[in-house]
Amino acid sequence: MQKDPVGRAAARSGTNDGDAGQALIQARKLGKQVAGPDGGLTILEDIDLTLNRGASLAIIGRSGSGKTTLLSLLAGLDVPSHGGVWLAGHELNAMDEEARARLRRRLVGFVFQSFQLIPTLDATENVRLAAELAGLDRPGERSIQALRQVGLDHRLHHLPRQLSGGEQQRVALARAFVHSPPVLFADEPTGNLDGDNAAAVTRLLFDLQRQAGTTLVLVSHDLELAARCDQQLALVEGRLAPAAPEPAPAAPAAMAPMPPP
Ligand SMILES: Nc1ncnc2c1ncn2[C@@H]1O[C@H](COP(=O)(O)OP(=O)(O)O)[C@@H](O)[C@H]1O
Ligand SMILES: [Mg+2]
Repeated sequence: MQKDPVGRAAARSGTNDGDAGQALIQARKLGKQVAGPDGGLTILEDIDLTLNRGASLAIIGRSGSGKTTLLSLLAGLDVPSHGGVWLAGHELNAMDEEARARLRRRLVGFVFQSFQLIPTLDATENVRLAAELAGLDRPGERSIQALRQVGLDHRLHHLPRQLSGGEQQRVALARAFVHSPPVLFADEPTGNLDGDNAAAVTRLLFDLQRQAGTTLVLVSHDLELAARCDQQLALVEGRLAPAAPEPAPAAPAAMAPMPPP
């Protein structure tokens, strides 16, 4: 039997990211303006955020409120017009695109509303690719293990189009967590799923997050999903604000305004 002295822990020990302090995600005065057809458009303004290791934050907001833009900035997929982002102590502004991509492969997992699996790769190959890009040891074994964790060991060689939506999102979860990422961004992860599948994906997402000690930022307008996070904030007119409290119970009838005679 071939012995492999380089285990799971060692696969991540080549970096000091885990020791970069408690704050895994920091954003300071983050802003994004774009050129729209009618002139400049401010999508985000003055966003400040600090998220510690293992914490979870839900950002809620209407469609078009800037949620995806904010996740893209936090993940270094897009560049801010103002301010900066630090991921595990690395200042994204100070890095070029290639360096940010390398950092993401090691530190970040993503889950998208539309799954975004590679259509020509089967379930195992989709997960394995992420494992390889993250530089994991024994990527094949690790991929199968990750798919087992999401209950898909009977679908290892199905292509995405041969899987249901719920199954595709479970493959995406296996892919996102295969390298136990310190940070995970989830953009409307249950947005394309029916009730039962949404509940199963939600349960798995939070189980995997806890097991891996991952810092999670998810955006959603699913309030039930958002309530599972430690903290909830709302994006309103480009700024982060405390999420609105639960709607107050309806006023008792005696206090309702009298109808006109
Ligand atoms: N590159 C861009 N150019 C112009 N407008 C954009 C661009 N990116 C996003 N927007 C606009 O900014 C707003 C926020 O988009 P987005 O972050 O995708 O919102 P959400 O994810 O909350 O639905 C939308 O009104 C969108 O049309
Ligand atoms: Mg969006």
